[in-house]
Amino acid sequence: SDNRRENLYVISSRAAKFFRETMWETEEGKTIGLGYFRERGFRDDILKKFELGYSPGSWDALIEKTLAEGFKESVLEDTGLAIRNDKGKLYDRFRARVMFPIHNFTGRIIGFGGRTLKTDKSVPKYVNSPESEIYHKSNVLYGLFFAKKAIRDLDNCYLVEGYADVLSVHQAGIENVVASSGTSLTTEQVRLIGRFTKNITILYDGDAAGIKASLRGLDMILEEGLNVKVVLFPDGHDPDSYVHKIGSSAFKTYIEKNQKDFILFKTSILLKEAGSDPIKKAGVIHDVVESIAKIPDGIKASVFIRECSSLLQMEERILIAELNKLRLGKS
Ligand code: GTP
Ligand code: MN
Ligand code: MN
Ligand code: MN
Ligand code: MN
Repeated sequence: SDNRRENLYVISSRAAKFFRETMWETEEGKTIGLGYFRERGFRDDILKKFELGYSPGSWDALIEKTLAEGFKESVLEDTGLAIRNDKGKLYDRFRARVMFPIHNFTGRIIGFGGRTLKTDKSVPKYVNSPESEIYHKSNVLYGLFFAKKAIRDLDNCYLVEGYADVLSVHQAGIENVVASSGTSLTTEQVRLIGRFTKNITILYDGDAAGIKASLRGLDMILEEGLNVKVVLFPDGHDPDSYVHKIGSSAFKTYIEKNQKDFILFKTSILLKEAGSDPIKKAGVIHDVVESIAKIPDGIKASVFIRECSSLLQMEERILIAELNKLRLGKS
């Protein structure tokens, strides 16, 4: 019910306040949490804007605080802020982590991502809130609330992988940025962006996983009728690490210079993999046309067929025949 949902919003906002106060006002929080963010180069105004915080290294600090204030155990459990163990005892999900509240696009907090400060692999790097009545991961984009105005004004949305990427890119003055954090990009997320712009630029990590996710993401974006470009970062870099390495203005230049339309991106990636093997090269052509076939608008598709033809030195009519075969297969 609305009342139940409201309780979940209220506890989430209360928890965020607790994490913020812990970070800004306690010795542990200042030394460990705030120290960590500053070490990574995040400015205080960004930490405040995104309402970042720190969860203390305790089994039940949040639980104790909120129960004393009259919150019910059930709302802590329903948001996943508390977990009940085999013995029936509640403990805090987020312990000794820097906390990234996740806002819905009207700005209410609906969940959290928490990053460990440990450098070994003894615990997962990120722990996220589970699905709840107010948090449906596949419908949420991290940062959208802070980005939506800029996305509309600039008529473009940058899509990154992680929380830290959103913060760093935003801090660099590029405010039209969101992350599909934790999940691979969903149709619902693309449609959500589509309410603000028809243009998406993918800025995923410059590693094998990031490239794979970019190829998957671009097909999904094309299928929804949006336009997509991709920027590839040097190996091992993500937008966060790269902007800190080269600085804001060089980063902006890099993005401008290195954004490729999806045909160019996909072709160059696949051709590199194919090498000189002619059979594999034919496979590349097929794969690229497969992406074009996802574009609902026929006129747009034909423009890309032309680009593909000149790029791959392949007669247009052959590509069109392939395209038509794929389109027929779909229906
Ligand atoms: P930083 O090391 O803080 O810069 O993180 P990152 O965002 O660069 O992490 P990475 O590229 O490894 O992962 C991208 C995103 O995937 C993260 O922002 C998280 O949303 C998610 N993710 C990463 N590691 C984990 C994990 O161990 N568990 C879960 N559930 N999600 C993760
Ligand atoms: Mn719902
Ligand atoms: Mn990665
Ligand atoms: Mn990353
Ligand atoms: Mn990173």
